[in-house]
Amino acid sequence: MEPIDKLQNEIVQIKSSFQNMLKDAKNREGLQKLRSTFLSKKGEVGRLYQQLKDLSSEEKKDAGKNIQQLESFIEEFIKKEENNLENLEKEEILKNEWMDVTLPSDLFNKRPIFDGHLSPISIFNNKIQDIFLSLGFTIADGPQVENEYFNFTALNIPETHPARDMQDTFWMTNGLLLRTHTSCIQARMIQKLKPPFRLIAPGRVFRNEATDASHENTFYQIEGFMVDKNISVANLIYFMKLLLSEIFEKEVTIRLRPGYFPFVEPGFELDIQCLICHGKGCPVCKQVGWVELVPCGLVHPEVLKEGGVNPDVYSGFAFGLGLNRLAMMKLAIDDIRWFESGDLRFANQF
Ligand code: DAH
Repeated sequence: MEPIDKLQNEIVQIKSSFQNMLKDAKNREGLQKLRSTFLSKKGEVGRLYQQLKDLSSEEKKDAGKNIQQLESFIEEFIKKEENNLENLEKEEILKNEWMDVTLPSDLFNKRPIFDGHLSPISIFNNKIQDIFLSLGFTIADGPQVENEYFNFTALNIPETHPARDMQDTFWMTNGLLLRTHTSCIQARMIQKLKPPFRLIAPGRVFRNEATDASHENTFYQIEGFMVDKNISVANLIYFMKLLLSEIFEKEVTIRLRPGYFPFVEPGFELDIQCLICHGKGCPVCKQVGWVELVPCGLVHPEVLKEGGVNPDVYSGFAFGLGLNRLAMMKLAIDDIRWFESGDLRFANQF
């Protein structure tokens, strides 16, 4: 066989053996091996070039062109595979590194996440606020660290008054205190606003006392008050009945008993007829048929006067709702200490 024929044969063979080997070269190592087998100095293509020296110059031209074509064919295919591989690798990296930056951090860490929700206190607070807003009341706020004047004095509880002992107080070393009730917001607002006004003031209050199933050192109240001309007990009863019927989602029967609070005159304890036994007597109402729910009364003339409101012209009613009490009644919670316990088994039920 003439050297030229031998060379042309080899070109064809090398091409087909390259094509076969290419099918199996699926990674960088494989492609690297192809490169060195075919394209390195001592590789297959190199060997072909060496054979050119045995050819005539005419044959050289032809065969040289064919070898060059083979060389670029091999180069092109290896390059193409290398590019494919590189793209796959990039995709893989992106797939692993991709993140949705809007996801909550818990999901990144692949920990289970739990839906948050409102505490029963917030649920009732929102509900009561909605009811009063629809009745034309506005919402007032005040500081939790309060002074003696607004917590006591302005509410007709002077320093020597035994009623100060009714509410065990957390005193601070600077003479301020943690408010014992939301009535202090009433005192602040009467000084600040010109009647007529109707407000509710929800908030956290504190008592320095031993805790048990019905006593807690931190709890929630909503103070409500309305000052206008000719406000009477009838207005108080009207709003209380409306409020309680809305909260309990049924018509409720209420009664007023006299109660003593220095900032109202007359003062009442408002009871609601037990919703479980309808007044017949059961363990929930301790067999009396009534549950004590809202202390209230007509704003004491001294409180109005202290706030710069003339009690001969204006009168008002006020009430102090215990939110924890209400939630306990409605949701059958048997111990007030659950609310501040931070125990998720409790919180997750609502
Ligand atoms: N501030 C009282 C307390 O926490 C509750 C209270 C009683 C509020 C009578 C009132 C009221 O507005 O009229 O014990």
